[in-house]
Amino acid sequence: MKHYTSINDIDNINTWIEEAKALKTNPLKYTALGKNKTIGLLFFNSSLRTRLSTQKAALNLGMNPIVMNVSGDAWGIEFGDGTVMNGSTAEHIKEAAAVVSQYCDIIAVRAFPTLTDKVKDESEEVLNAFKKYASVPIVNMESATGHPLQGLTDAITISEHAKVAKPKVVLSWAPHIKALPHAVANSFVQAMQKMDVEFVIANPEGYNLNSEITGDTPILHNQNEAFKDADFVYTKNWSSYDDYGKILNTDPDWMITKEKLGTAKFMHCLPVRRNVIVEDAVLDTDSSLVIQQANNRTYAAQLVLKKILENLN
Ligand code: CP
Repeated sequence: MKHYTSINDIDNINTWIEEAKALKTNPLKYTALGKNKTIGLLFFNSSLRTRLSTQKAALNLGMNPIVMNVSGDAWGIEFGDGTVMNGSTAEHIKEAAAVVSQYCDIIAVRAFPTLTDKVKDESEEVLNAFKKYASVPIVNMESATGHPLQGLTDAITISEHAKVAKPKVVLSWAPHIKALPHAVANSFVQAMQKMDVEFVIANPEGYNLNSEITGDTPILHNQNEAFKDADFVYTKNWSSYDDYGKILNTDPDWMITKEKLGTAKFMHCLPVRRNVIVEDAVLDTDSSLVIQQANNRTYAAQLVLKKILENLN
C-alpha cells in the first residue's frame, strides 16, 4: 500500500481486522520494520487521540516520530496554484511538501474542512496537495471528508465486542452546540458497508450525509425506531450536508440516554460533550466502549504504518 487516505484503501476489512487484533496481542513484534525510518505528523488542527496513538503506533514499529502543529508553528502555507503570495501565506505547498519529504519516510496529515466552502472541502485541497507534491506516502489523520484511521478502529472494536455473527449497528446523529465535520461519520459509514453487519443511520430531517457515501444504507428519521434491537449505537454529531455546515437542529431529544440505548453498546470517537451528545449514565457504565475504541486507535494506525513500511522496504 502506498498511501492511506480513505477507507477505500482497505482491500479486505475482515483480514485487516484480524491483522490488527494480532498486532494488539504482540505490539512489539515488528520493531525492526521501522528502524531508522521517520514519520512526520503534521497537524493543522487540534488532537489528543490521533496525535498520541499514531506516535505510539510508530514507536511500536521502531520508527522515529516528528510532530508539528503546522497552523501554530510553521509558516502559513499557500495551496493555490499561481497565487501572487503577497498575503498571509509565506510558503507554498510545493516547497513545503518536498522539503518535509526529505526529512520523513511517511507524512501523516490532519486538516479539517472549512464547513463554509463545500467545493473546496470536497476537493480535499490539503490532503491531495500533500499527495501531489510529497515524494513519500501520505496518511490521512482526518481530512475534510474522512477519518479512515478512526473508521478502521471502529470496525476493529465492533468485531471484538460483537456477540452475534451479524450485529445490528446504528450510526446516530446527536445534538451539539458547534458545527462539526462529516469526516468521522463518512468513514464509519464506509467501514460498516464493508462489514457483515445490519447497518442503519438515524438522523433528523435535513441531516442526511452525502448520498454518494450513504448509498443504499437505510436512513431513518425516528431514532427510537432505528435503535430497536441494536447491538451497537455509534453516535456522532455532524452539521448539515445539504445546507452545508449549518446547524439546523439542536433538539436535546436526540441525546443518547441509558433508557434509549437499552442493552446496546455505546460508541463515540471522542472527544464527547457529556450530557449534550450522551448522558453520564451511559459513559460511566459498561454500556460505553469509548475507552476501548481509543485504545484501538494505536493498533489501527500500527497496521496502516506496517503495511506502508512493508511496501517501502
Ligand atoms: N477521535 C479523534 O480523532 O480524536 P482526536 O481529535 O483527539 O485526535
